[in-house]
Order: sequence, then structure tokens, then C-alpha cells
Amino acid sequence: MDLHEAIRARHAVRRHTDRRVEDPVAAELRAAVDAANAAADLAIQLVLDEPKAFAGPRALGQFRGVKNYLALIGPKGAQGAEAIGYHGERIVLRAVQLGLATCWVGMTYSKRAMPVSVRPGQEIHAAVALGYGVTAGEGHKPRPIEVFTSAAPPFPDWFRRGLEAVQLAPSAMNQQRFRFDLMGDSVRARPGGPYGQVDLGIAKCHFEIGAGRDGWRWAD
Ligand SMILES: Cc1cc2nc3c(=O)[nH]c(=O)nc-3n(C[C@H](O)[C@H](O)[C@H](O)COP(=O)(O)O)c2cc1C
Repeated sequence: MDLHEAIRARHAVRRHTDRRVEDPVAAELRAAVDAANAAADLAIQLVLDEPKAFAGPRALGQFRGVKNYLALIGPKGAQGAEAIGYHGERIVLRAVQLGLATCWVGMTYSKRAMPVSVRPGQEIHAAVALGYGVTAGEGHKPRPIEVFTSAAPPFPDWFRRGLEAVQLAPSAMNQQRFRFDLMGDSVRARPGGPYGQVDLGIAKCHFEIGAGRDGWRWAD
């Protein structure tokens, strides 16, 4: 499964079976976490076989059987949140390639129940539940790509492909309030909504995969 296929196969899955996440899948996940932490000075931690963060009443309103997750820890503030979104989604897509079900979580889990260390200047921005899904999930109904930009069609091919990947991006409460402005061959991405910076990082990750590397760049 390549990254384009992983983007299409990823859906929020909130019910997991009892099957444990073991090597070689666990080792591959750890490698993805290490790469993300090294790339952006993050402190993401993979937690396996530890149900407490998803065992309280808030989590149980949404989740069942979640025992594995990523604690998405990074520098406090907007830049840290965007980096967590971008690199967290890279790990999510790797997890999907490895046959795992995933769901981003901002609210319905317990941060305090996580056995993780958070250094001064850092915070837990969010989590991602990981495991073998009871179902493959369904995903959200895609909005037309035009809602994600103020640019008028026809779009350059790379921009259209980028927005088609953005269409499939997970977002808090499925709000997808990020926007992508086109200025010649550069793109400015803007946040919006609750968890706006995390959502923006996720959407930028999708845009880059969809658009490919050539013919455009992010605006400064
Ligand atoms: C930053 C962020 C926070 C989220 N928080 C929660 C949450 O607290 N509880 C939950 O059940 N789902 C949460 N989600 C999952 C979204 O509801 C889900 O991604 C969205 O409805 C789109 O569905 P899809 O992921 O299947 O495409 C969150 C997603 C993101 C990106």
C-alpha cells in the first residue's frame, strides 16, 4: 500500500479487538515514531498494552477496547501543535500501511492516566488510538475541494491533487476548517476551528502527498 492508498484506506476506527500489537508491526511503528521525533524535535511516545487512558467515562462514550496509542507530545504552542499534526499523521499513515486501525483523539481520553513523561516546555497535544479494528470504519463524506480554497478553478493539476488528499484528512469534529490559498506556484495554508493547528499539520501532510514534490512550494 503506497501513501496515496493509505490516505484512502484511513478512517477513524474507535473499536478495537483484543489482538495485541506485536513485532514486527510494533518495531516498525517505533521506527516511525523515532523518525518523527528526530525530524521535528518532538517527544511522541508509543504506548502498548495500557488501557487506562481509554477506560474512563469520557473515552467509553466513543471508544471500546483501546489499549495502544501514540501520546503526541511536542513543544507547547501553535508551531508545536502543527508539527504534531504533520508528523502524527505521517505515523498514522504508516500504521495504516501496517494493517492497523487508527483514530486521532483530542478530547475523549484521559491525559492524566497516560504513563508518559512530559518535559518542561512540552505538552500532550493529542493522542492517536491504534490497534486492530473491529471494522475498517467508513470515513467522512468528502466535501467538494473548492471549499478548501479561495482560488478559482481550473486549478493546476498538482493543486487539485493536493486538495483531493486534503479532502480525506481527519480533523477535530470533522470540521476541516483549514484553507489553502494559491499564489502562483506557492501555497499558503491557514488554520481554523478547534484544534486548528493540529488539523492544519495533518492537512499539510495530506496536501504534500497528494500534490507531489515538484512544481510548487509552501509560501513563507
Ligand atoms: C485533532 C483531532 C482531534 C480529534 N478528537 C476526537 C475525539 O476526542 N474523539 C473522537 O471520537 N474522535 C476525535 N477525532 C476524530 C474525528 O472525529 C474524525 O477524524 C473525523 O470525524 C473524520 O472522520 P474520519 O477520520 O473517519 O475521516 C479527532 C480528530 C482530530 C484530527
